[in-house]
Amino acid sequence: MYTLGRVCQRGASRRLTQQVQAGIALVMSASSLWLVANWKMHGTCAGVECWVRGVNAALETAPAVACVFCPPAPYLAVAAGAMPSPPSARLQLGAQTCHAQAKGAFTGEVSASMLAEMGCGYVILGHSERRAMGESDAEISARVKAALAAGLKPILCVGESRAAYEAQQTADILRQQLALLGEVDAQSLLIAYEPVWAIGSGATPSLVEIQSAHRVIKSTLGSAVCVLYGGSVNATNIQEILALPEVSGTLIGGASLDLETMAAIISVAATVTEK
Ligand code: PGA
Repeated sequence: MYTLGRVCQRGASRRLTQQVQAGIALVMSASSLWLVANWKMHGTCAGVECWVRGVNAALETAPAVACVFCPPAPYLAVAAGAMPSPPSARLQLGAQTCHAQAKGAFTGEVSASMLAEMGCGYVILGHSERRAMGESDAEISARVKAALAAGLKPILCVGESRAAYEAQQTADILRQQLALLGEVDAQSLLIAYEPVWAIGSGATPSLVEIQSAHRVIKSTLGSAVCVLYGGSVNATNIQEILALPEVSGTLIGGASLDLETMAAIISVAATVTEK
């Protein structure tokens, strides 16, 4: 067991890219469920350090859970620096987006190779909040390819709006959005089914609806593709969602910010992997 007091103590800053990568190898061999924590534009340096130590400690008793932390970009180095030495470094790092170009005059943007250099193994792409800022399917497709070229695993978000949900167009929307992958090997990605109306709203689709959306994605991309569910996941509803055979994990926003809640989520996920 761990205590938050112990894990929140500030450790010596370390150069951790290799350690983070060693953690990836360690987790990938044993993982059967993914938990991706998307902090969006939240957090502080101190909060990131505390959370990273606490989540690593919580993962000690969850060998089959792979956990990816996606903090705001300025905190990636802080998160890497707070990681314990292998084999205790179980948490993996991801970013919330990357640019399609490797470098250039793109003020404010971050390239996939920069993220890889900072110890990231993953990058969320096509999140509905970024699509709402104007990211097109063509742009997302270019970003997916750039991420893969830099050795990152994209976590591609797809999902329907409330209007499309009400019009029962979920399957059509998903197929349309997945078409941006073209010839990309879907097994090199994680797909996150995130209904736009469920994100941050407290509402979730029924289990049957989650199952059927996941089936649409798998029938489009192949049954071996890993599909996560995202949208108002919390420590209470995660158990029944993860228990669905089509669901390979969850993408968690708001509920991931609090360490105690995240530790509870990890322990629920661990019980599902034991079944
Ligand atoms: P939420 O966010 O868990 O706060 O609904 C999920 C997401 O946007 O990825």
